[in-house]
Amino acid sequence: MALTHNFSVQYDRRHTDSQMYSLYPEDVLPMHLAETNFQTAQPIMDALASRVNQGMFGYVAESAELGLAVQHWMASRFELPIEPEWAQYSPSVGSSLVFAVQAFTQPGDRVLIQTPVYHAFHSLIDNSGRMKAENKLILRNGRYEIDFEDLERQLSNPRTKLMLLCNPHNPVGRCWTKEELTRMAELCLRHHVFVVSDEVHADLVYEAFTHIPLPAISEEIAQHCMVTVNPSKTFNLAGMRSSAAIIPNERRREAFRVALINNKAIDRPVFGMVALEAAYRHGGYYVDQLVPYIEENAKLVGEFLREHIPQLELIQPEATYLLWLDARKLGLPPDQLAPYFLREAKVAFRDGASCGNGEGFLRMSIGFPRAVLEQALHQMKQAVSKLDLN
Ligand SMILES: Cc1ncc(COP(=O)(O)O)c(C=O)c1O
Repeated sequence: MALTHNFSVQYDRRHTDSQMYSLYPEDVLPMHLAETNFQTAQPIMDALASRVNQGMFGYVAESAELGLAVQHWMASRFELPIEPEWAQYSPSVGSSLVFAVQAFTQPGDRVLIQTPVYHAFHSLIDNSGRMKAENKLILRNGRYEIDFEDLERQLSNPRTKLMLLCNPHNPVGRCWTKEELTRMAELCLRHHVFVVSDEVHADLVYEAFTHIPLPAISEEIAQHCMVTVNPSKTFNLAGMRSSAAIIPNERRREAFRVALINNKAIDRPVFGMVALEAAYRHGGYYVDQLVPYIEENAKLVGEFLREHIPQLELIQPEATYLLWLDARKLGLPPDQLAPYFLREAKVAFRDGASCGNGEGFLRMSIGFPRAVLEQALHQMKQAVSKLDLN
């Protein structure tokens, strides 16, 4: 019988050592973090329980199973054929990005990002002794687009050595098209800029869109990029520290591995490996049910805002459970937006400014059972009704 998952079940996660639930007081709905509130998939829990029963938790071998599981997932979900040895273990996507900066650039080099973008892209560059180069995305008719002229200008700077691409994009929700990826790839190749394609949200692409892994664009870009994946966002496994970097080019792979070793990050976690393998081998059914649930949540938010809070505009997402809300018409100073909703609505959002080029915007997670989302929307409505919006 086909497995089903009920995403509407509410769990009380307070007092469970959850980072998400420890930052704010108990009466606040924490919608600031990229983590779902859904229980993980049953095959993952079964695999973990069976591993617990072994009662032996020593150092983990570098078995081929990680690469085989990643290979299976990339082929079955995205039609991307990879060799198992291209997949290198890494604790997290964030760590992979840090190691990539160490492995592929020198202090003083420029690392290019497209803003607004996942806030850690900023901090990891700022903390690395490298320079941050910014290609600002342009909001045109409610959709974010790439400014290719500026992109080429940034890439042609001889100090630009690395680009961190976010595909699909957190927080603006774009699933980059084949044409956009092809143009970006051509420019990066022309200017000899290596690309890290952060594809942690790849599983969460809405029905009308298709995720294209960067290496699928051409053999040339495949040899000139690495892809970071992690079942964490999709299967609520962030605490497992079970990520992988896919690096087709052998020399680049070796350089990345050296960075892992130098950072003492090469050792694989017992349970993380079990979780990753179970997710990528047996989790397809879960994603097939999760994505429509998320998409329905996004639709609900869009309709609710249009009807009840028209001053808060949803940037139509194509992927992810992170919504990007244009709050500029609320008339609040940008730095007061998130604090206002925290105080008056008891809902925590990420302030858009922390993503760079995102002042006046808020990022809201909708990875929640629908009833929780509805509660948040009503609290937001109440809060906005207290504002003088004339
Ligand atoms: C684009 C992006 N990359 C990476 C991460 C973090 O992933 P990890 O926990 O594997 O470092 C997030 C989480 O928000 C993300 O949105």
